[in-house]
Amino acid sequence: MSLFITFEGIEGCGKTTQLGMLDDYLQQKGRRVMITREPGGTKLGERVRDILLNTDGMNISSWAELFLYATCRAQLVKEVIKPALEGDNIVICDRFYDSSVAYQGYGRGLDLEPLIAINRCVTGGIIPDITFILDCPPEAGLKRAWGRINAGGEVREDRFERETIEFHRAVREGYLEIARREPERVKVIDGNREIGEVHKEISDIVEKIVGSL
Ligand code: TYD
Repeated sequence: MSLFITFEGIEGCGKTTQLGMLDDYLQQKGRRVMITREPGGTKLGERVRDILLNTDGMNISSWAELFLYATCRAQLVKEVIKPALEGDNIVICDRFYDSSVAYQGYGRGLDLEPLIAINRCVTGGIIPDITFILDCPPEAGLKRAWGRINAGGEVREDRFERETIEFHRAVREGYLEIARREPERVKVIDGNREIGEVHKEISDIVEKIVGSL
């Protein structure tokens, strides 16, 4: 029995916390869980991640940005996701191809048709069984993301946090549009609530699917 779950959302939406809580929950139930993330998760992916998130003043074009994310994805699918699913694991990925649709498509304004075709090529057609979009207003997410950066608790670049609020609104709208188009796969979860409440909603949904497998 394998299951592929992805978490998505704008900066500071709380998806990484929720992903960790779901991991603990499933492990306690005796499930075999594999956690990975994008961009990264492989040696090549981590190197490309470094280019993407530490640009050193380079002005990366939007299409170049898309292909860098696509590079990470192609490698992650081949090296990690596909073998783990074939090995009957529950794979949970922190961001996947919906991030490119939301950030590079809706945020940067790239043409969706070729973008989606590229996604399809690099994933070899792998589609998550379920995707959780942790939704929250960009103002709230950015406040949380900046709080983390300023506290120094996380070593990361602030390239996307520095984008305009309109950029983040467009990314959020992109996510909501993805959910409207694929309501079966993509669940919008109100992330602007108490952490335990959000976790309960997510674990109930996963429990139902796992129970029916
Ligand atoms: P990361 O530090 O992983 O941030 P987060 O905790 O928000 O996931 O940085 C990943 C950044 O890359 C994040 O700002 C979203 C962006 N991104 C894209 O723009 N396109 C993509 O396809 C992916 C996977 C991520």
